[in-house]
Amino acid sequence: MADYLFGLKRTHHCGNLRKEHTGQQTVLMGWVQRRRDHGGLIFVDLRDRSGLVQVVFNSDAAEEAFRTAQILRSEYVLAVAGEVALRPEGTENPNLATGEIEVLGQRVYILNRAATTPFLIEDQSEVDESLRLKYRYLDLRRQEMQRVLMLRHRAAKAVRDFLDARNFLEIETPMLTRSTPEGARDYLVPSRLNPGNFYALPQSPQLYKQMLMVAGVERYFQIVRCFRDEDLRADRQPEFTQVDLEMSFVEREDILNLVEEMMVYLCRETVGLKISRPFPRLSFKEACARYGTDKPDLRFGLELRDLTDLVASCGFKVFSSAANAGGQVKGINALSCGNFSRKEIDELTSLVTNWRAKGLAYFFVTSEGVRSPIAKFFTPAEIQAILERFEAKEGDLLLFLADKPQIVNPALGALRLHLAERLGLIPEDKFQFLWVVDFPLLEYSEEEKRHVAMHHPFTSPNVEDLALLTENPVSARAQSYDLVLNGVEIGGGSIRIHRRDIQEKMFTAIGLSPQEAIEKFGFMLEAFEYGTPPHGGIALGFDRLLMLLANKKTIRDVIAFPKTQSAVDLMLNAPAPVSNKQLNDLGFRMEGSSLKFKALERILP
Ligand code: AMO
Ligand code: AMP
Repeated sequence: MADYLFGLKRTHHCGNLRKEHTGQQTVLMGWVQRRRDHGGLIFVDLRDRSGLVQVVFNSDAAEEAFRTAQILRSEYVLAVAGEVALRPEGTENPNLATGEIEVLGQRVYILNRAATTPFLIEDQSEVDESLRLKYRYLDLRRQEMQRVLMLRHRAAKAVRDFLDARNFLEIETPMLTRSTPEGARDYLVPSRLNPGNFYALPQSPQLYKQMLMVAGVERYFQIVRCFRDEDLRADRQPEFTQVDLEMSFVEREDILNLVEEMMVYLCRETVGLKISRPFPRLSFKEACARYGTDKPDLRFGLELRDLTDLVASCGFKVFSSAANAGGQVKGINALSCGNFSRKEIDELTSLVTNWRAKGLAYFFVTSEGVRSPIAKFFTPAEIQAILERFEAKEGDLLLFLADKPQIVNPALGALRLHLAERLGLIPEDKFQFLWVVDFPLLEYSEEEKRHVAMHHPFTSPNVEDLALLTENPVSARAQSYDLVLNGVEIGGGSIRIHRRDIQEKMFTAIGLSPQEAIEKFGFMLEAFEYGTPPHGGIALGFDRLLMLLANKKTIRDVIAFPKTQSAVDLMLNAPAPVSNKQLNDLGFRMEGSSLKFKALERILP
């Protein structure tokens, strides 16, 4: 009986054929990467998921196949039967895994034709990203993207194998859940059966995984989709994947150890990289002081130095007044940048002013001393002390900022990264993990005019700091930790609160009234009354981790069907309007461009 495959059964995959297969009959199926017509010989590069192989059609040897080969075009889908042969001497291609052999095509069937694709299916072709996303199914055909899909699969499998071997249970948690007041903006889903009520898509399975600990699961994990309606960046998507885990009867060290072991295993299994343990640790305070950020890239130095003490009484008012008004004066030694031009200094200045700094002061360190428009404001002793603080040498450029710490640190942190890139100081092939620990439990939100949890409100304070929760909440440290890889936050977690009284204090500290706490988290407070074990966990940003493993600049490149920076799926054109019938079922109707909820109109005419 005829079938779509002309009765052929695939015997090999293109990319796997080698010298050892010489003389064997093969049936291949795949896509035409390229066709080259050399008169009596036609060469077709045939591609499938495994790679490419060259097929030769010879007009003398296989006339009918040759005639079909004449009409082949890029991306046609073929079944080819032929014999594997060594390539004639001198025609081997060392750049191709299958480059020592070719397939002598005896029969060829066109399984499907292809129109001219909007871009070439080649790794080298530079294609506009929106075109790639619109035709993602073509983009994914490129070998580089197939490599990423395989890497992602292997990474997920490595995680499952690793955690399974340690008795973790993979448990699914709901996607239709409830909006909670903390964290990012939620994606909401209206309920048809409960008009006027909404589900929220989970920002993370935080509450569920804690309830699983109450439920006696002890070790839970999930490779889980999370949803956050945030402003997007290269390392942020509205839906992304976490490796989420939670454990009972553990302390911080147990979680950090487990995750380090998992990272070592994962890097070895996926990219064959050897990572050494233990990972270095920095406190939040030290990370901000030395690198200007809580997710420092430790692959290079260029540390920030504080000179506030040295300039408190200097003659440069910008520095002395910042120092005396509780601000900071800090800087970076841009090593060997003493030859920077006026224009280059201006570029650095505009970089820091984008981070809200008011200007950038600088010293060129020369053989005749310091060259700078502000040098005249400093005594020789002050200049000497500053040079020593930066271990400055002739030919260096010292860059300074004076302002509030909230401005100085992020701006210098950004300047540090910029300089490192510009000076080529970042070893691209290095994987530098880091734990950041001892975060403050709470921070003050100017926007909301209240304290908010720095990680989330289920994070336990340090046991020694428990009393501070009521006495002086901002000084309490949290039992939380972030995992950083090459300057990217790839995970965060904490030891949790497991007692009702402490959880209530925490809710009070973030400004929830007892009624609100009961209304939103009553189930949790109640659950804590029924024998909740001490527990803690972490979630790793799986996409970010893969971005780094695959050496990509954005997480869009490691997600099969990502959204654009404006949260649009260009292939399906989502989001999209829905029909009036669908809206009606949900109790809504459109009035012009505004959405009205009908029940409300009945109540409030
Ligand atoms: P957190 O909010 O820190 O913790 O998230 C954990 C990790 O998820 C990644 N991530 C993202 N990746 C891509 N796009 C996003 N929009 C995005 N947002 C976060 C980051 C981050 O480190 N429930 C807690 C974990 C816990 O306490 O166990 C949580 O979700 O790599
Ligand atoms: P001005 O006194 O405004 O002419 O500034 C003199 C130099 O100090 C210029 O190079 C400014 O860019 C720099 N400068 C101004 N404000 C700051 C600041 N807050 N921190 C560091 N440098 C500054």
